[in-house]
Amino acid sequence: MKGATAARTGGSRDKKGIANVTTMSSAEPTRRDFLYIATSAVAAVGTAAALVPLIAQMNPDASTVAAGAPVDIDLGPIAAGQIVKVFWRSQPIFISHRTQKEIDEARAVDTNSLRDPQTDEARVKPGHDQWLVVIGICTHLGCIPLAHQGDYDGWFCPCHGSQYDSSGRIRQGPAPLNLFVPPYLFLSDSKIRIGESETAHT
Ligand code: FES
Repeated sequence: MKGATAARTGGSRDKKGIANVTTMSSAEPTRRDFLYIATSAVAAVGTAAALVPLIAQMNPDASTVAAGAPVDIDLGPIAAGQIVKVFWRSQPIFISHRTQKEIDEARAVDTNSLRDPQTDEARVKPGHDQWLVVIGICTHLGCIPLAHQGDYDGWFCPCHGSQYDSSGRIRQGPAPLNLFVPPYLFLSDSKIRIGESETAHT
């Protein structure tokens, strides 16, 4: 596949063994390059994930993964309205750069009406309302939901029809719980570390 061969992935590991995730092309990385890489990756994994670009990621080695090593993600290339997928502990992690509309929709919901009541504010980091990070595994029987599908500007699980909203909360279908939020923290406004929480730094 032309795009996949034209693009290459990269990353590095710091002294703690934390993988730094980057995307790059043979030239200087630009947003256009990123989208090109993302589109190529989507084509590789098939139409089921057509709306979920896959960020290229340098995985830690097997022993590091087994130990649950954190991964650092550069948020810079992720455009507003875009959802990307990375992997941590072999689990898909969705990172959604939410638009103001998506945030407003999530916060307009009466939480008492929810199956798994939780405010949107409780599911994001203070001051980073536009970023939602969730584990991409349906809480029904473990399928991977499709992003930007369904009736709630969130995710649709094709296995049995569960629908999640733009906060990753279950809104319809058999899934009992919201999509889980993994431990993560902001290293800066444009970089997160998945696999560590703020409590580890207090
Ligand atoms: S596994 Fe998602 S609805 Fe059943």
